[in-house]
Amino acid sequence: MIYDAAIIGGGAAGLFCAITAGRRGRKVVVLEHNPEVGRKILISGGGRCNFTNINTRPENFVSQNPHFAKSALAGFSPQDFVEIVQKHRIPYYEKTLGQLFCRDTSRSIVEMLLSECRAARVEVRTSCTINSVRGGDGFVIDTSGGEIRAKALVVACGGRSFPKIGATDLGYRLARQFGLEIIKTRPSLVAMILSKGASSTLAGVSMDAEVSTGKAHFRENILFTHRGLSGPAILQISNYWQKAKDIVLDLLPDEQEVDLLEHARNSNKTAVNFVAERLPRRFAEIYIAGRYPDLPLSKMKPDERAGFAHDLKHWSVRFRDTEGWDRAEVTLGGVSTDELSSQTMESKKVAGLYFIGEVVDVTGWLGGYTFQWAWAS
Ligand code: FDA
Repeated sequence: MIYDAAIIGGGAAGLFCAITAGRRGRKVVVLEHNPEVGRKILISGGGRCNFTNINTRPENFVSQNPHFAKSALAGFSPQDFVEIVQKHRIPYYEKTLGQLFCRDTSRSIVEMLLSECRAARVEVRTSCTINSVRGGDGFVIDTSGGEIRAKALVVACGGRSFPKIGATDLGYRLARQFGLEIIKTRPSLVAMILSKGASSTLAGVSMDAEVSTGKAHFRENILFTHRGLSGPAILQISNYWQKAKDIVLDLLPDEQEVDLLEHARNSNKTAVNFVAERLPRRFAEIYIAGRYPDLPLSKMKPDERAGFAHDLKHWSVRFRDTEGWDRAEVTLGGVSTDELSSQTMESKKVAGLYFIGEVVDVTGWLGGYTFQWAWAS
């Protein structure tokens, strides 16, 4: 039998693509090497899958071509996905900032996708190892379950993060095999390791901050770890991190620098106590103590006091590295968007070859955006 489409990868993008093609009457097979589909969906959102973000805009994605995602995102909105979730009576709620989570477990999303696959007569093969893929007139996929022939091949193998649940680099290898360019990949939406100044005694302390680099800025929590920083604001900025550039933290985003300086000028508190009134005391005692004279702020030299206020608003940190593939939620980079049609996701070089989801150089922010890209692409 020759399938209309073989889809490699039974994750978010692959299953949703299979459903869409199956509903159009196409004969579709999904090839998944894990014993079950959708493992990343299962562990996502702390087990409650943040399956979309109702505020999704093209600006919430990072790519060498920021316009590429527009077409797919316009063609399938968060509301379109929510309608399917509602049809399956899956309870959900908005946690914060437009993020929709399952009220019970992520498994309900996987079951929903599998039920839609059955309705669309999609064949799903699990524990299926891909040995090789040949192109030419259609595609021949040599698998552990025998040879599969298909008119179209959709590569939906996802990114490289979380190898322990089955992530591989097969998508990138296939792209290379067919002569497609890859934008260098790296772990992202990930905790970061400080170049210097990490303090394990601070691990566990968290606070609200505005974190920025270049034009990108996020206001959410930061969390001190044994080796550096984590928390939603840091994960967000990791999509924009460049090794040779500092990340700037505004530790008091609700106070203007001039007001802060004015308060400091009139304060009889030391720098540590002044900061401990506004931020966790452990932070003040470890990071502030020793940096400034142990004097009431009102008695400090004006330029020292100005430096103190400036530092709190522009705390520059340099990261050495990310915490790596085992901790990253996504892969930054991937199959170059120059190689694909933004309307269809088909390769411009190889007819019938498609790349969708995270394997493509389109990376969403934290907060349900990467799943929205998986469904939409
Ligand atoms: P996905 O990884 O879902 O699917 C790829 C599939 O291909 C997998 O089933 C894999 O086993 C299979 N595969 C890989 N190599 C293969 C091979 N060689 N042969 C056959 N099959 C192969 N996003 C979000 O929007 N909200 C959230 O709450 C979270 N939470 C979250 C938590 C954690 C811990 C992680 C690691 C990630 C998230 N994400 C997230 C990100 C989200 O999970 C991710 O962006 C999407 O699953 C990407 O969908 P894809 O279908 O592209 O890849």
